[in-house]
Amino acid sequence: MNLCVLASGSGSNLKAIINAQKSGKITSKVVLVISNNSASGALNTAKQNRIPHYHLSGKQFKTEAEFNKKFLSLLKRFKIDLIILAGYMKMINPAIIKIYKNRILNIHPALLPAFGGKGMYGIYIHEAVLKSGADVSGATVHLVNEHYDKGPVVLQKKIKIKKGEDAESLRKKILRVEHKLYPEAIKLFESKKVLVKNNKVYFN
Ligand code: GRF
Repeated sequence: MNLCVLASGSGSNLKAIINAQKSGKITSKVVLVISNNSASGALNTAKQNRIPHYHLSGKQFKTEAEFNKKFLSLLKRFKIDLIILAGYMKMINPAIIKIYKNRILNIHPALLPAFGGKGMYGIYIHEAVLKSGADVSGATVHLVNEHYDKGPVVLQKKIKIKKGEDAESLRKKILRVEHKLYPEAIKLFESKKVLVKNNKVYFN
């Protein structure tokens, strides 16, 4: 499969996916990287790996429709099969979600449906988890639908929260989990047929 990775931040998940590709853990290839943030580490990683990369931000376009047109033309030009959101801080337009139905994945550093939705991003997620007194957290890969953080779960991995854990140590621990989980989820899409029924994912 041809993958397009969308990222806004450091891009460590992009690195993990490229490494999984290099080591043969997945057969898919990252052929396109897009970031809304010109300073994103993901654009640098793409450059170092000679992967076509674009800084694409809504601010560069007069209307959202123009932005979507450019975005879609890139997805078509690079024959993208699967879109991978890896710390992408922008909502995907519903029209694009429709075209790439069940072919957009996101990773979230908590056990969805818990600790998802509005305001649940970055360190805030881990702070909320710790404040709740939960003794587990983890990472979730899910399909993206038009409801934020509500798409059906593809894979989830739990970790135990140790006594004295702080939000930053939890963030780092979960990020390491994410780096394994995302390639595993991509592998599932490579090897199985994906079926979605009643907001649940089934692999055949
Ligand atoms: C990850 O924790 C991911 O779950 C969240 O954003 C973070 C991105 O990290 N959606 P990175 O840019 O891949 O290092």
